[in-house]
Amino acid sequence: MSGLLAGKRLLVTGVITDQSIAFSAAKLAQENGATVVLTGFGRLSLVERIAKRLPEPAPVIEVDVTNTEHLASLADRVREHVDGLDGLVHSIGFAPQSCLGGGFLDAPWEDVATALHVSTYSYKSLAMAALPLMSRGGSIVGLTFDATKAWPVYDWMGVAKAGLESASRYLAMHLGPKGIRSNLVAAGPLRTMAAKSIPGFERFETAWTERSPLGWDLNDQEPAARACLALLSDWFPATTGEIVHVDGGYHALGSES
Ligand SMILES: NC(=O)c1ccc[n+]([C@@H]2O[C@H](COP(=O)([O-])OP(=O)(O)OC[C@H]3O[C@@H](n4cnc5c(N)ncnc54)[C@H](O)[C@@H]3O)[C@@H](O)[C@H]2O)c1
Repeated sequence: MSGLLAGKRLLVTGVITDQSIAFSAAKLAQENGATVVLTGFGRLSLVERIAKRLPEPAPVIEVDVTNTEHLASLADRVREHVDGLDGLVHSIGFAPQSCLGGGFLDAPWEDVATALHVSTYSYKSLAMAALPLMSRGGSIVGLTFDATKAWPVYDWMGVAKAGLESASRYLAMHLGPKGIRSNLVAAGPLRTMAAKSIPGFERFETAWTERSPLGWDLNDQEPAARACLALLSDWFPATTGEIVHVDGGYHALGSES
């Protein structure tokens, strides 16, 4: 077997459509030699249908990251398909509508708690659920949207992503001694189901397409997926707690306004 991920066994979360960043990651991973197991949330039959569009049909196991039973049984259910894991892709985010689109000052704690549970805490809980299957050289990768700044309309999702970025650094600290890395990819805006649920998301689209030094294709998930695969590969063996920007270079620029 050849390719960047030859022989790697990966658990990829977050496929819901073929626009999902996770779908691109799973597809490219298979094309580069990996064996992929997917997790699906909620609409399992939909995820199973999408999984059939991959180069190799991939098994789908059900994981709601807020369900402790799903997490407790994850390792055994993954073992039905592969004998261990070399990598984990966390490509999960959700915030109730009140938390997005300018509602920052009014969103109730219950909704904010949901956003943080699904989008931030789950990075740690999913990693711990997969840990029994992982050994030295293992790699965990998540997706963020640059949380060093406050963005219009992103609101509590921005806070959740800031927490995710911190959680990844703590995971890097705690899992480093086991030889397991934790890194994030900070993607620019992409037209996925999650993005479309953010009222006012088009403001990001205009900013990115007009200002990114390299230009930015809102419909191309592949650059973000490729970065995930690079971080899952053996080519970043001494990198952990890192955030790699895949945003056309937007983050590097200042603004005059
Ligand atoms: N699309 C963008 O512009 C963009 C930019 C930067 C980062 N991201 C991040 O990329 C990741 C993937 O999102 P996407 O844009 O591919 O959208 P997507 O809608 O395709 O994927 C989001 C996934 O989260 C899953 N999910 C939601 N609640 C869950 C739960 N309780 N348990 C398990 N899974 C759950 C959904 O089923 C879905 O598969 C997210 O973390 C998102 O914040 C997206």
